[in-house]
Amino acid sequence: MRVFNTIAETRKFSGQARSEGKSIGFVPTMGALHPGHISLVERARRENELVVVSIFVNPIQFNNTADLEKYPRNLSSDLQLLKAAGCDVVFNPSVSEMYPEKIERHYDFGALATVMEGAFRPGHFDGVAIVVHKLFDIVLPHRAYFGEKDYQQLQIIRALVRQEDLQVNIVPCPISRENDGLARSSRNERLTPEMRNAAPFIYQTLLNAQALATNAESGRIIEYVYQQFANHPLLKLEYFVVANSDDLQPVSGKIKPGSFGFIAVFAGDIRLIDNIKLI
Ligand code: PAF
Repeated sequence: MRVFNTIAETRKFSGQARSEGKSIGFVPTMGALHPGHISLVERARRENELVVVSIFVNPIQFNNTADLEKYPRNLSSDLQLLKAAGCDVVFNPSVSEMYPEKIERHYDFGALATVMEGAFRPGHFDGVAIVVHKLFDIVLPHRAYFGEKDYQQLQIIRALVRQEDLQVNIVPCPISRENDGLARSSRNERLTPEMRNAAPFIYQTLLNAQALATNAESGRIIEYVYQQFANHPLLKLEYFVVANSDDLQPVSGKIKPGSFGFIAVFAGDIRLIDNIKLI
């Protein structure tokens, strides 16, 4: 496994691989890898001749400086895990390598970017789109793998690929969960033991909301979820939304097939997101 810190080395590798007709599978990450990331790498390994993983904590997608500073970083254990998973190249650039100049670019993803994460994390999706676009341009992947926990991010990236006519296949991958149902996230590392014990309540509540969905209207399900979190001692609900899985616009009245429940919860200053297909 090779580790490149520069854009030039990575471009050279990808250009060469492309000219030899080899397929490249790409898993973009911010490091602090967990079994969910590794399952994406393993899938990329099965479906491509070469696998590239990027590890880059992208500062411009954080709307909260403390969240950026506290974001877990475990480069040496990440590299061990990637080697064991059969990764060929790790691209691990510095911030100045990726952004030698101030980036001013804005994308217009319309209503897709103004709801949920877009509403609560201003500028987040511009930051994600800028880095993913740049990474695609460097790595030249045939396929890129994204987890469905960040479902809105996945839809934004699909929109980016359509808008910019990028020649990459976006491969969505199911949410990876701990045995108790908690969606795997690098941020889980920061949970105290008490918070970690409490956190499966998020998925449990989503399952209960799903059970309600065949008979109840969207407003009733939303009310149910808010009630569950109202007096929770450790978990604070930021939002729960019932939305259509394509355009992510809110669903009112009877739940239609393809509606999802999307949730964001704070445990202390740690923000956790999750989602579930309701019907
Ligand atoms: O999902 C993530 O880890 C990040 O948002 C991504 C796609 C690597 C872009 O920085």
